[in-house]
Amino acid sequence: MNDSYLNFVNSPFGARVARSLGLPKPEVLRRYRADQPEFGGLMAIGAGREPQLLDALANLVTGIGVTSVAHESAGLWVPLANRHGLMTGRFEAAESGSQGKLAALLFDASGIEDSTQLEPLHGFFHDTLRSLGRCGRIIVLGRPPESCATPRQWTAQRALEGFTRSLGKEARRGITANLVYVEQGAEGRAEATLRFFLSPRSAYVSGQAVRVAAAGAGLEATSTFDWHQPLAGRRAVVTGAARGIGASIASVLAAEGAHVIGIDIPTAREALDATMRQLNGTALAFDIAAPEAPAQIAAALDEQGVDIVVHNAGITKDKTIAKMTEAAWQSVIDINLSAQERIDDALLAAGILRDGGRIVGVSSISGIAGNLGQTNYATSKAGVIGRVQSMAPQLRARGITINAVAPGFIETQMTAKIPLAIREAGRRMNSLSQGGQPVDVAQTIAWLAHPGSAGVSGQVVRVCGQSLIGA
Ligand SMILES: NC(=O)c1ccc[n+]([C@@H]2O[C@H](COP(=O)([O-])OP(=O)(O)OC[C@H]3O[C@@H](n4cnc5c(N)ncnc54)[C@H](O)[C@@H]3O)[C@@H](O)[C@H]2O)c1
Repeated sequence: MNDSYLNFVNSPFGARVARSLGLPKPEVLRRYRADQPEFGGLMAIGAGREPQLLDALANLVTGIGVTSVAHESAGLWVPLANRHGLMTGRFEAAESGSQGKLAALLFDASGIEDSTQLEPLHGFFHDTLRSLGRCGRIIVLGRPPESCATPRQWTAQRALEGFTRSLGKEARRGITANLVYVEQGAEGRAEATLRFFLSPRSAYVSGQAVRVAAAGAGLEATSTFDWHQPLAGRRAVVTGAARGIGASIASVLAAEGAHVIGIDIPTAREALDATMRQLNGTALAFDIAAPEAPAQIAAALDEQGVDIVVHNAGITKDKTIAKMTEAAWQSVIDINLSAQERIDDALLAAGILRDGGRIVGVSSISGIAGNLGQTNYATSKAGVIGRVQSMAPQLRARGITINAVAPGFIETQMTAKIPLAIREAGRRMNSLSQGGQPVDVAQTIAWLAHPGSAGVSGQVVRVCGQSLIGA
């Protein structure tokens, strides 16, 4: 759907009107385009005491080929960068006024062990934030609090979450701020995640705290991939692929090299066929909630197996509980939740989902916050989160990850049905003051499906522009 307000305030006349009336001016977000460089510009590096992730950052900077500047808090960076043969310089305090100079700010807080050591966060971002350009990226790196050795360290690492989320709310201008907790031993597994959060692919993901775990490290040793076509040779099933977010997921996974098998209901067959034809994919017209569907899907995939399963199909049947029929309750739970369980069980039991595979469920911020008129929908979407959290430890031994994305307001036919006033509120009540696009959800799923995301499992990543709902 078209966001006419965003288009208006970004026109020369609209910008003048917005300025004179003091209206909010959402930024036109920079999104990934295959014909434009994904990374570029200057990246400023800061650090707290005894940073432990600078080597991982040096590998990242080498991989994406950008130039870095070291803030005074990261004295160790310059000799390290020199050792890696990287182009680097020092961030000068005088640059703090020069808006737009930097593309990203990265801060290594992994060595902070006590709340009294948090000040360098203030120092670094105080000096650099005004130099960050529009649609810039902020990443704070830490250690997962629950893996910390002492209560003081846990406390200080947990504090990073409030800091990063607040930065996301302050920064504006299409800037995102996210926190990546890298477990000890997982330093070599963080690159795909750091690339995602630095890239325009994460345009609508802000205020998130993501963990990269060491558990099962080594299982992916046999998995080689090319950063430009990371899913080449992999097969991906996407449910609800005929339109909206599902069609976009199918298209992004195909662009990354996957062969996509799209599933949708028989009445959507024409649209599904058209989408899959464009992607050289395979169309399967099944109602995923039909009792025979899991066996039919398993049979259709059996010969070659599958590496990625994306449970995207979902419906709403909104009514307050007193007015909701049993059928409306049941169909939403069945399609949005129980069908996912039955399909996964069938694919896992028969070994059709291969070891090292990826499962991604589409939840919703309604499943986190609850929503008036959506007891059925929010129940199903909270269930998706429970499923991911409960299954992740069970699947670890096979190197299979399972995660959920929780979209906020995304411009699709589903949200076009919402009455205008509520729709407008849903669009603006987030740090980026706009709705997301289906591709924002799709790109987040592609990162979770990436062979380099083996350390990311059991997590829920919101794609909501840091919505106030359920925050
Ligand atoms: N649009 C949003 O703002 C938003 C927000 C949060 C979560 N979501 C979730 O994202 C997912 C996709 O949403 P969308 O906005 O693209 O919706 P949509 O209605 O545009 O597309 C959903 C697709 O799922 C298919 N589908 C429905 N029931 C099915 C069944 N029984 N078997 C097979 N396919 C079936 C539909 O035919 C359709 O093609 C859903 O799970 C939805 O709950 C959307």
